[in-house]
Amino acid sequence: MTEYPFFFTWTAQNAVKPLELTGGDGAWFTTADGARWLDLGALSYQVNAGHGRQRIVEAIKRQADQLCLSAPNAVYPAKVELAERLLAMAGPGFSKVFFTLGGAEANENAMKIARLVTGRFKMVSRYRSYHGASMGALALTGDWRRPPLEPLVPGVVHVQDCHCDRCPFGQRVETCRQECATHIGATMALEGQRTVAAVILEPVPGANGVLVPPPEYWPIVRQACDAEGALLIADEVLTGFGRTGKPFGFQHWDVVPDMITVAKGLASGYATIGAVIVHERVARHFDANVLACGLTYYAHPTACAAALETMQLYDDEKLYDNSARLGPVLRRELDAVAARIGVKTFVRGIGLLAVLELESTAERWTVFGKELGARMLSLHIDPKRGTAVFAPPLCISEEELVRGVRAFGDAAVAAFGGAA
Ligand SMILES: Cc1ncc(COP(=O)(O)O)c(C=O)c1O
Repeated sequence: MTEYPFFFTWTAQNAVKPLELTGGDGAWFTTADGARWLDLGALSYQVNAGHGRQRIVEAIKRQADQLCLSAPNAVYPAKVELAERLLAMAGPGFSKVFFTLGGAEANENAMKIARLVTGRFKMVSRYRSYHGASMGALALTGDWRRPPLEPLVPGVVHVQDCHCDRCPFGQRVETCRQECATHIGATMALEGQRTVAAVILEPVPGANGVLVPPPEYWPIVRQACDAEGALLIADEVLTGFGRTGKPFGFQHWDVVPDMITVAKGLASGYATIGAVIVHERVARHFDANVLACGLTYYAHPTACAAALETMQLYDDEKLYDNSARLGPVLRRELDAVAARIGVKTFVRGIGLLAVLELESTAERWTVFGKELGARMLSLHIDPKRGTAVFAPPLCISEEELVRGVRAFGDAAVAAFGGAA
């Protein structure tokens, strides 16, 4: 195997299977061996606009010709317009944007803002969560990526998940008492009255298994935060920009968070940019107090231009609507796959984010990975969790989606066995 002069992430270097990307078009990407893969995972969940979107590339070029350098206190049209556009998308009451280079930094800065505004340092997050790889974001993270790096930033309390198919409180949907939501308030009280700065949640945990909450969940958590004087942060890094069929995931429920963190779909992977979108009730604090946060490449002009063009593309092609329309198609097709497999299987989803979950051996999952590869299907497989997560580019057509999920079903039957 070729030895490359750089590290691959989240893996032992001997175990790497490099992806020799050469380009792509819409829901497809191509590799150096000439293969054309159907991208059912949007690479790392970021290519919401699709591959080969020349208009985004052109926008980056135009901006680079005009102004390619900046400083944190510089002002230029792309920076102003992008902030205005993000605030409009978040809805009434949001008044300021803090720009970052990606998702971890967005969560890192949301955590700092929560500390500065509340004067408290504790944070609450869930076990089945991923919030980024920097030390603060990793402290918030609940999944397997956190323990190898501990001790991290102190003060993070992890709470149980909202997993309706494997309820951590032993309930079935018919007996559900929303304990996954109510115990967040109970945990905050146990941590000491009014010591928690913020609760941070993905509206729908994505990489950790597409755990779609019941409608009561977010409103209960919002109420608990209000009672404790804690802020509520929606980590929309994966769910933002139409992934769930709405602009933001939290917009499925009648809640308004205090901060929204975004990255990935913001520029659809064409540039490295993220942001914290801050509600006025939080932002006002910094009128007279120092915002002790900063980055050299804050709102880089080419990244702002890429994000603006991406957001315009979402509007022009009505891609959020496409995600909402194709969500039920994706779940219907996955239900059909589940019926074909001889193992108990769960299907969950919202918009163009869905999962098929089943228990099998590591060997069977390896076979499954090979079967998917043979069919040139790319998506997110996690054998430890027993999940296959779908998050295709939002421009995928119904025909491509149905064809892809049916081929995925053939691979699943070959790996896990068919129903009797
Ligand atoms: C929900 C969520 N938050 C934060 C991050 C971190 O984003 P980044 O890798 O851009 O730092 C991710 C990345 O997968 C994510 O899925």
